[in-house]
Amino acid sequence: MYDNNPTLEGMDHKILEEARQGEVFASALPGEGFTGKRFYIESYGCQMNFSDSEIVASILHEQGFGLTRDYNEADLILLNTCAIRDNAEQRVRNRLKELRAVKKRKPDALIGMLGCMAERLKADLLEEEKLVDIVCGPDAYRDLPKLVQTADDGSKAVNVLLSREETYSDISPLRLDANGVSAFVSIMRGCDNMCSFCVVPFTRGRERSRNAFSIVAECRELFENGYREVTLLGQNVDSYKWENPETQTVVSFAQLLAMVADVHPLLRVRFSTSHPKDITDEVLHTMAAYENICNYVHLPVQSGNSRILDLMNRTYDREWYLERVEAIRRIVPDCGLSTDVITGFCSETEEEHADTLSLMEQVQYDMAYMFFYSERPGTLAARKYADDIPHETKIRRLNEIISLQTKHAQLRNQLDIGKVFKVLVEKPSKRSADDMCGRNDQNKMIVFPGKGTQAGQYVHVKVHQATSATLIGEIVDL
Ligand code: SAH
Ligand code: SF4
Ligand code: F3S
Repeated sequence: MYDNNPTLEGMDHKILEEARQGEVFASALPGEGFTGKRFYIESYGCQMNFSDSEIVASILHEQGFGLTRDYNEADLILLNTCAIRDNAEQRVRNRLKELRAVKKRKPDALIGMLGCMAERLKADLLEEEKLVDIVCGPDAYRDLPKLVQTADDGSKAVNVLLSREETYSDISPLRLDANGVSAFVSIMRGCDNMCSFCVVPFTRGRERSRNAFSIVAECRELFENGYREVTLLGQNVDSYKWENPETQTVVSFAQLLAMVADVHPLLRVRFSTSHPKDITDEVLHTMAAYENICNYVHLPVQSGNSRILDLMNRTYDREWYLERVEAIRRIVPDCGLSTDVITGFCSETEEEHADTLSLMEQVQYDMAYMFFYSERPGTLAARKYADDIPHETKIRRLNEIISLQTKHAQLRNQLDIGKVFKVLVEKPSKRSADDMCGRNDQNKMIVFPGKGTQAGQYVHVKVHQATSATLIGEIVDL
């Protein structure tokens, strides 16, 4: 779901394209004869940003804007941007270039930049990108209708104020690109960790947790509307902590998980992202106790070397990380495990790079998002450490990491051959109209002959073939 890795460019692009072409919740599209303004929105970056776009869509929809999936007919074109790596920003700038033609054809159309790149560059963005009329940061989306008005009146409009309270908890997101089966539910915003490489604390501000009851209510509503899977989102879900102002009791992440799992046994619960320093045994025991909390953890390691982890300010070391993996495997047997890796961080030696490879050998991840280090202005690393690993070395190390991971994914998937998994049917497979696909508990995609199954249904599938990316199987009766 993260974008912008040159080596993975094709793949990332595919994910974005898929999201763009997905089915938009029909009710959001205005019917014939609609005379109001139409908006188009495109999302980049992490799931959080995709989820935010649904909040933005809801805010605009409430104000009478109609959604369109074709930017050529939009009066307002919004790009919800990412700033995590330099090439994430380059991608958005390239997109802006493409939009120049639209603006030429339709000079009254407004272009708005939302999200993390908007927050990072603030009003400078208006100077740098003349095409942009509106700049709106992640905590200012309620102000967007006003900003549109200002821009319509001919002034440039900016709101990049960060908030300590905003969680948009009362806003019912308008599900964009929905398959009607799985949805993201944001449970917190911001991040209080200061990983030295990371721009997120600057673009998303302080960490705050959303009202637990509003989260449960949103999940219940999704279930009642036919959804069968929710993914609870936060930069560091393990530090979720919401204090009920009426009772002064605090809801922890483990408790929240249980509350959401209690909505209905047929509602699958997933979450992302866990932080190795914070993931508790209590969370793992809660996962083990509920059949509908998926056995899958995304646990970004970043590096397998303790000196680098210290420079990254991750606040754990290699041993601590491996102990957490051991705890996951002990408490939640058959748990799927994935990670994020950054290679070529400041001063990383060949031996330290080899430590990342050896940690990967030891853990054998099912899946990984792999990046080379991209210096971000203003971060601790940019201020304190030299970005001194040559680009070719970064690429070579990244390729070593990617090929090792591909091997592991292949091996891990081979182990699934012959096993039967409970699969939540998501959608028709792209390979053939007769095939359907869906994920197992461990978050692996399985393709199988549909035989009249519908999205949202649970089926049991026996796996008979595996690639590094997909499992292929057949529905079986239990
Ligand atoms: N909150 C999550 C990750 C958010 S960003 C966590 O702490 O794990 C997603 C991933 O992008 C990170 O895990 C990291 O691997 C990568 N990333 C972040 N900043 C980066 C940078 N400056 N260069 C390269 N990769 C980066
Ligand atoms: Fe960035 Fe670290 Fe926060 Fe993740 S935990 S968002 S990597 S600062
Ligand atoms: Fe990108 Fe912001 Fe997410 S920087 S990864 S969109 S939090």
